[in-house]
Amino acid sequence: QLDSELERLDKEFWVSAEKLKEVVNRFREELDEGLQENGRNIPMNITWVHSLPSGNERGTFLTLDLGGTNLRVCKVTLHGQEPPNPTNSPSPGQKFSLEQEQYKLPDHIKSSTAEELWTHIADKLSTFLSSKGLDKEYTKEKPMPLGFTFSYPATQDAINHAVLQTWTKGFDIKGVEGHDVAAQLREKMAARNLPLELICVINDTVGAMIASAYNDPETIIGAIFGTGCNAAYMSSLSSIAKLSPSDPRLKSSSSSGGKTTGKMAINCEYGAFDNAHAVLPRTAYDAQIDAASPRPGEQSFEKLSAGLYLGEIFRLVLLDLADRGLVFKDRDVGRLRQPYTIDTSFLSQIEDDESAGFAQSRQMCRETLGFDLADGEVELTRRLAELIAVRGARLCACGVAAICTKEGITRGHVAADGSVANKHPKFKRRWARALGEILDWDRREGEEDPIVITSAEDGSGVGCAIIAAMEMERRGRRA
Ligand code: BG6
Ligand code: GLC
Repeated sequence: QLDSELERLDKEFWVSAEKLKEVVNRFREELDEGLQENGRNIPMNITWVHSLPSGNERGTFLTLDLGGTNLRVCKVTLHGQEPPNPTNSPSPGQKFSLEQEQYKLPDHIKSSTAEELWTHIADKLSTFLSSKGLDKEYTKEKPMPLGFTFSYPATQDAINHAVLQTWTKGFDIKGVEGHDVAAQLREKMAARNLPLELICVINDTVGAMIASAYNDPETIIGAIFGTGCNAAYMSSLSSIAKLSPSDPRLKSSSSSGGKTTGKMAINCEYGAFDNAHAVLPRTAYDAQIDAASPRPGEQSFEKLSAGLYLGEIFRLVLLDLADRGLVFKDRDVGRLRQPYTIDTSFLSQIEDDESAGFAQSRQMCRETLGFDLADGEVELTRRLAELIAVRGARLCACGVAAICTKEGITRGHVAADGSVANKHPKFKRRWARALGEILDWDRREGEEDPIVITSAEDGSGVGCAIIAAMEMERRGRRA
């Protein structure tokens, strides 16, 4: 009976090339709709980042990152490019230096209040400033420029303004949705007398794109495959119908003299793709995750493909099989009943396990579930981890394929960051294979794919600092 269950799961989780293409077609339509007018399902948020960096940005910045696994504060110094060297001596060294602290965001904050969130953040900023002596170096009159990577969907009227549209990734903090997070942060920093000036609020996808473009001119897209799933790209202004060329915000945000570059970075927020449930191959387990989440009906695509949810899908399938008496008979499955007890890294480690008799997987299951697995059960968990991760990776290729086909992009580098991209041993290979199937690549042995996934440079540190530098330059200031 377990075999027939596995067959069923195989069918439910497998996404064929044909289905991927159907998903991409609808995906393209939703991306287009988001550029037409505000309030569509995929918001296609305007970021007021008008260009990729020149590579020559300089200065010292503080950056704050909220929205991935960690809350992070960095001091970033951008060195820019050395002047061109006619003697062709070896290329200059790294173009930035960075000091950072990572802080775990306490779980209770994720469902607390705006007051608690910003107090916690101001505390960490203050600790960082004093630990590095920056509170002595900068003053309220001469503040240190701050860039904030806020990785949630936000409406921006300017680069230093961001009204949260909705929390994603399981956050549910009262009093922030519908408010300008820049203003809320500024107010808290002022109350604490922190010598900081908030220059920009950016999304992690935009940070990944900009940081990578600082070094890699082939960068076409910044993508996050981590706790959440999303991407950003440079759009021509003429494709953004919801932004009129006479919009006064364009004039005030473009480079000197009101001249525009003709481009705008778009943060797609495509985790929201197919909230109408028209094409995505959802299972009963996906529906369960959605129903139990703080925002049912939102982030449908993300809930099938991002790191926050892969482990949870795995848990729900195993629990279903246990409740139907198909696995773990006569064992206490109490721990398996706890939502979000299985982290996505658990799936990565199972797939990575090459130990004899899968001793490592057995050990991990024992630690996580609290009991030993029979041989057939070990096999089942391995197969299940694979099915869920393969579906996730194949769906992740759809978002990028939709941007590329819509924009007519046929080559380049997708700068990717996030725990799934970086830590899952097979994600990138599976993603690339699915992209090739969607785009009908005729692959030859040894030839590089025309569109490749690369590891993004540090988007929320270096990328955010570069955007702050570009913004200060635009305002005629230096950091
Ligand atoms: C980090 C980036 O490396 O990856 C962050 O600096 C980003 O900006 C994060 O949000 C995403 O990954 P995860 O897995 O932490 O959600
Ligand atoms: C979620 C957020 C989005 C972010 C992504 C990756 O989708 O809404 O802003 O880019 O996660 O962190």
